[in-house]
Parts: sequence; structure tokens; C-alpha cells
Amino acid sequence: MASMFERLGGEAKLRPLIDDFVDRVFDDVMIGFFFRSASRERIKRFEYEHAAQFLGAEIEYGGRPLRQAHARQPIMGGQFARRMRILEQTLSAHGVPEDIAQAWLAHNRDLREEITADPEGECHD
Ligand code: HEM
Repeated sequence: MASMFERLGGEAKLRPLIDDFVDRVFDDVMIGFFFRSASRERIKRFEYEHAAQFLGAEIEYGGRPLRQAHARQPIMGGQFARRMRILEQTLSAHGVPEDIAQAWLAHNRDLREEITADPEGECHD
């Protein structure tokens, strides 16, 4: 059976999608500031590997463990939700099939505890 990676169109499709996603995140008014001193090229490379591995490509994620990579940043629940929203918009803009988009978003949602200790929620008062 074809993997989600193959059904999506492989690297030719995933690479520009991730590049676009990372650009949207870096340029975002709500969460872009987190990336002020981060390398766009590094994040593109490792977000690509992370997504490709999840989608079933024969690629191994070679970046830092997510918990470690995010430990220095006090990321709030609403900021996690913002990245989810940008991902959702990017998947839609690139015409990712609905079942793959849903599985991808669910996988990211499940990683929440590795990224933030903040409880779920959009708003803080
Ligand atoms: C499921 C959600 C997420 C995934 C899969 C993810 C994935 C990644 C990956 C693969 C890296 C590169 C690791 C490395 O450099 O070795 C990274 C770094 C980073 N992420 Fe995330 N991330 C997520 C959520 C977030 C959120 C919500 C924020 C902030 C709003 C964020 C901010 C950052 C920052 C600032 C870095 C660079 C850290 C540094 O270079 O010190 N991430 N992330």
C-alpha cells in the first residue's frame, strides 16, 4: 500500500509545502518572534524530516528531540494552537488530501506535551 508520503507526491510536493509552512511561521505576527535567532534553513530541514518520517517516507528525523528543542522557549497553549492553525491553512493551500491532513494534524496535536506544559486553550487573561 502506498504511504501517505507517496500519495502526497513525495519530496517534490512536501519540500515546497514545508518551506512555505516555515516561512508562514517565521513571518507570523503571533509566534514569529520565537524564531528571531533561529535558522530558517535548519528549521526547514528538520521540519521536513520530521513530517516525512511521520508520512511514511524512508527518512529518519535527525534533529534534536522535540522536548529538548523547545525547552528554552516558554510556549503557551495559544501559541501552540496558532502553529496548528498555520499548519492547517498550509495543508489546505497546498491541496493536501483531507485524510492525510487530518492524520497529520492529529499527529501534531499528540505531540503537544513535548512542546508546552501549558494547558489547552486559545486565550489567557
Ligand atoms: C507539534 C508541534 C511542533 C513540531 C512538530 C515542531 C518541530 C520542530 C523542529 C523539527 C524543530 C528543529 C529542531 C532542531 O533544531 O534540532 C523545531 C525548533 C523550534 N521550534 Fe518547534 N515544533 C512544534 C511546535 C512549536 C511551537 C508551537 C513553537 C512556538 C510557538 C515552536 C518554536 C520553535 C523554535 C523557536 C525552534 C528553534 C529552537 C532553537 O533553535 O533553539 N515550535 N521545532
